[in-house]
Parts: sequence; C-alpha cells; structure tokens
Amino acid sequence: MGLPNTLFTRDNIDVLPGIDSNSVDLIYLDPPFNSKRLYSAPIGSRAAGSSFKDMWSWQDVDDERLEVLAEHYPALVSFIEGIHGLNGPSMMAYTTYMAQRFIELRRILKPTGTVYLHCDPTASHYLKCLMDAIFGAGNARNEIVWHYDGPQSPGKKDFATKHDVILRYGKSDKLFVSKDDMYHLSLVEEPELSTRYRKDEQGRWFYDLPRGDYTDDSIERLKHEGRIRWTRNGNPRVKYFLESTPDGVRRRKKLSDVWNDIPSLGLTGGAKENTGYPTQKPLKLLHRILKASTRKGDMVLDPFCGCATTCVAAQQLGRKWIGIDIEEKAADLVVERLSDDAGMFRDFVHRKDIPVRSDVQHVTPSPTVKESLFQKQKGICNGCMTDMRIVDLEIDHIVPRSKGGGDYLENYQLLCANCNRIKGNRPMEYLRVKIRKRREAVASLTFGE
Ligand SMILES: C[S@@+](CC[C@H](N)C(=O)[O-])C[C@H]1O[C@@H](n2cnc3c(N)ncnc32)[C@H](O)[C@@H]1O
Ligand SMILES: [Zn+2]
Repeated sequence: MGLPNTLFTRDNIDVLPGIDSNSVDLIYLDPPFNSKRLYSAPIGSRAAGSSFKDMWSWQDVDDERLEVLAEHYPALVSFIEGIHGLNGPSMMAYTTYMAQRFIELRRILKPTGTVYLHCDPTASHYLKCLMDAIFGAGNARNEIVWHYDGPQSPGKKDFATKHDVILRYGKSDKLFVSKDDMYHLSLVEEPELSTRYRKDEQGRWFYDLPRGDYTDDSIERLKHEGRIRWTRNGNPRVKYFLESTPDGVRRRKKLSDVWNDIPSLGLTGGAKENTGYPTQKPLKLLHRILKASTRKGDMVLDPFCGCATTCVAAQQLGRKWIGIDIEEKAADLVVERLSDDAGMFRDFVHRKDIPVRSDVQHVTPSPTVKESLFQKQKGICNGCMTDMRIVDLEIDHIVPRSKGGGDYLENYQLLCANCNRIKGNRPMEYLRVKIRKRREAVASLTFGE
C-alpha cells in the first residue's frame, strides 16, 4: 500500500530509502543548483523567514553512502573525480550529493514513470552525465529549455541568462505519455495561411499529408468524413483541419522542447500564486509536466519541494503526491498554501520521521531468522567471508535503521562479532571497503620488501 498525500520535513536522503520501489509515476525535482548563493525570501512575503543555501562542500555528502556509488557505479565515480579537476571541490561535492539521491529516485520510479530534473546551466552539463549513468543514456527523452523573462542582471560581461534546463528521462522505453497534452494550438499568421494551407468548399483551412500508416479501411472511413484529398496521380492524402477561434485560425502543433510561454514568478511579481519563496516555480510549468506524463490518480514525488508547487499542481489535477523539503519554513508554507490554493483539500499528512517500506516483508530478528540466514550464507560471515559457528555470528541490518533500512529479510545478514563492530551503524559498503583496505595493507607488508 502506498503513502497518502504526504509532506516530509527532513533530508530527502533519509526519506527516500523508506519509499517503496516502483511506486511513483512522476518525479519532478528542482534541487539547489550549486549557484554559490544563499537564497532568502523578502521580508513581508508569505515566505519571509525561509532561506536555503546553495553552496556546497564535502560536508553535504553522506560519507556513509559513498560506498554504494563506489560499489555499483565505478565509472560514475571516476567521472565525479574528474569533475574535481575540471571545476573544483564544490562541484564535485554537489554532483556526489546529487548522484546519491538519483540512485534512490530511480529505484522508486515505476518502469512507466518519467523524471524531470530542473536545473540551470551552472551544473546541467554535469547533471546530464549523472542522469545518463544512473537512468541510462538511452532513456534520455528531452532537454527542455524553459525560457523566461525577468529582471536583467546588470554589470555582467555576459548576455542575460534567461533560461533553465529541464532534463526529462524515462525509467524505460515504456514511459507513459499523454499524447494530447504534448500538443498546443498555435495561431497561424495570415500570410502563412494562403501560402502553406488549402481551403475546402466550406471555407475551412487544412493541410494534408501522405497516408503514412493508414490502412485501406481507415482511408475509406476518412473518405466518408471528407478528410481525403486525391492527388493527380490518384493517391490519397489525409486532410488535417486548422481550428477557427475568435482570435484567428490555429493549428494543432506538437510542443517543442523550448518553452517560452510560461512567465517566471519574479520575487516581487504580483501573481496570486507568488509566496515569495526563493526560486518558486510557476504552477503552469508543473501543470504542463504533470499533464504530459501522468494520469488522474497517479503518484507524483518532489524530493526538493520548496513551497510545494508540485504538490499544489498535483492536488489541483487530481494526482496523489509526496513532497520532501529539509526546511521547516517550507513546511509552514506548504500547509498554508495547500489550504489556500487547493481549498477543500486538507487531507494530507505532515511527517518528520522515516517512512517504512511496505513492499518488503517485515520480520523481527529471531532464532528462526538467524537459522535461515545461516543456511543462506552457508555458515560464512558476510564481511570477512570466514567459516563460523552459528553462535559466533550476529544478525545485522545491511542498511542501518537510522538510514531508512527496515526490519525485513532482505535487509538482514550475519556478521562475525569483529566485522559487526567495524561496520557499526553504517551501510555494508563501508565494511567492504574497510576490509579491502586492510587486506591491501597486509599484502603490502608481506610483499613490500
Ligand atoms: C530550488 S528550491 C525548490 C523550489 C520549488 N520547486 C518551488 O517551486 O517552491 C530547492 C529546495 O530544496 C530544499 N533542499 C535542499 N537540500 C535538501 C535536502 N537534502 N532534502 C530535502 N530538501 C532539500 C531547499 O530547502 C529548497 O526549498
Ligand atoms: Zn567477519
């Protein structure tokens, strides 16, 4: 059973391991961009008092989870080490921090799901490589440019920076797409009409295309609907009519990957939805994303939800949602905003604890559990790989409970007392690296001279 609409106030790296695998249809994330700024909301705005930092150092990286990267993504680790040389330690810390989260996000996303990573040119090129490594380069679908207008930044030697980048990836090629929501009606200018389109007897403008995949039966049906034009050579072409609206003739056109029809909220702008929360995104942007990649009732996750734009958009469109933000002030704003914007919807849960996965079987450690683990491991300590008697082995949580690792069979193993002491309250990869280093040290002592 999945979570109800829930807001978590906590570091997302703690919450994500407690969310079921393959349980979310869409992830939108708008993490801090490594812009080396401290964002604060203006005094007097609804968000006053909220701020978040966008400066990175190695302290932001969860050291205990580093081994997960080393163990499963060695090529990515080399790439991140390269970033240190290219861009310095701060970008290296930032990309490591993000990679740790992407791994969990991929696990949580359904095979039919889509992830939208909102970033800007400061780090988008590094983040794209990370996404290629973790979600798969073949699952990259779009690099969307969100182009907006807003105050100019004076005095810089650059052209005004006026776009963000949204990287869109599926988890597989089975990703769900609402095709109708990928089109829009765009106005066709007068001169273009007569040069590019034809008019039928009833004065309706149309363009036509070769039959493509249409079968003979479909062509017959379209003929009855008045949608076939025959060429001089007797070949059918399928007519597509332009739509007449009060302000002109419009053509149904696929949205491009450059979005320039969604204004940004600007910190002091008068938009009703503007809370003043730093880097708040417009609801229209989230509506477009959610409509294109989810259906009603689907689950949407935003692990850096800020003032909950994604959650509000999801609520308005009848989708379920989970929002996570580390800031207390963000939570106050979410509560206030959801009650305002979504009116009657107050039915959501606010939590600060770590959720427990429901897609794995929960069992408390017992002699029976120990016996079955002993059989499974063939009497060998999972750390040092030494043969042991059952009395000399201890039950250990592979991912510690304090890090979201639950009481379930897949998370138990047997370790000898020595390995268990070294591992302590840390993930298994920590112990593996320690043992490897110890062996290397012993080997160099032995063969050193
Ligand atoms: C760019 S803002 C998101 C703005 C959001 N899209 C909106 O429309 O309001 C980034 C957010 O990530 C949050 N954040 C930073 N590190 C976090 C972490 N480790 N876990 C959860 N939230 C985090 C910050 O508090 C901030 O609210
Ligand atoms: Zn051992």
